[in-house]
Amino acid sequence: MTILVTGATGAVGRHLVTTLLSRGAAVRALTRKPDDADLPAAVEVVAGDLADATTLGSQVFDGVDRAFVFPAQGVEAFVTAAIAHGVHRFTVLSSLAAAKEFPRDHGSASQLHHSAVEAVVTGRTDAWTILRPGTFANNLLSWAWQIRSGAPIRAPYLASAQAPIHEYDVAEAAAETLLSDEHLGEVIPLTGPQALTRSEQVAIIGEALGREIPLVEITPEEFRAETAQFIPEPVMKMLLDYWHDTLTVPDVPRPVTVVTGRPGRALAEWAADHRADFEAA
Ligand SMILES: NC(=O)c1ccc[n+]([C@@H]2O[C@H](COP(=O)([O-])OP(=O)(O)OC[C@H]3O[C@@H](n4cnc5c(N)ncnc54)[C@H](OP(=O)(O)O)[C@@H]3O)[C@@H](O)[C@H]2O)c1
Repeated sequence: MTILVTGATGAVGRHLVTTLLSRGAAVRALTRKPDDADLPAAVEVVAGDLADATTLGSQVFDGVDRAFVFPAQGVEAFVTAAIAHGVHRFTVLSSLAAAKEFPRDHGSASQLHHSAVEAVVTGRTDAWTILRPGTFANNLLSWAWQIRSGAPIRAPYLASAQAPIHEYDVAEAAAETLLSDEHLGEVIPLTGPQALTRSEQVAIIGEALGREIPLVEITPEEFRAETAQFIPEPVMKMLLDYWHDTLTVPDVPRPVTVVTGRPGRALAEWAADHRADFEAA
């Protein structure tokens, strides 16, 4: 079976590629920069832009049985081309925001984008699985420069509790849904195994590094003032709403076990896997 992986050079995609190879699938990977892809030799790398139909010809799709859809802006072009070339079976990387479980999700940047991506696929074929992960543990890499430099992390809502998911668990859930027919037609929420306060998350990274990470609680207004130049307003609003709400209503874990058959990786494992990202060069 040949599986086309989009987003193959990303955090989820790279582990999806190696998981599929280890489970005996043939993998074709789509990237805009094939020369920089740095994927395993067994992978057939093809050039293409998910948002540009002119790059999405038969060289991308011939022989493909199933495809992993990375939710890039403009991905409708990819789905349209895939179906035109006879590919009808998809696993889609979406987001828990698309479930609109909380008022904060309605009309958020993530909800609008991921709901639209889901609709593109579910409106055109009936052989799909939608994965809706909650917050990625990789979002904590935004603290990497402070941690590397020894400067204190300055963050609001330290007592709010989220259940960050390891990218490997998202990838392994995706692999399972591409390789088996068991989850066809399912929309699957996924999170990390445990809700942890932001203070606990920092402490866990510190344990992986063998040192205490200085942490200072600031107000949401201070956070906005200090980071507005790096964080676009729709994303800022989404983050502050999420941390505010999870102060009183912590994330409820949505275990990956339902798909992978194994418990999700603890944040401590993620921190150990990413130690190099937090260590000074
Ligand atoms: N962060 C969260 O908390 C969260 C929660 C739920 C869902 N998500 C979803 O997960 C995504 C992040 O996944 P990730 O961490 O694996 O991503 P990532 O590491 O940022 O990698 C992005 C990948 O997308 C590919 N890509 C982007 N635009 C493309 C285009 N126009 N054509 C072809 N390839 C394109 C890139 O490929 P090339 O550069 O090689 O072309 C790269 O492989 C988010 O964008 C969001 O949709 C995130």
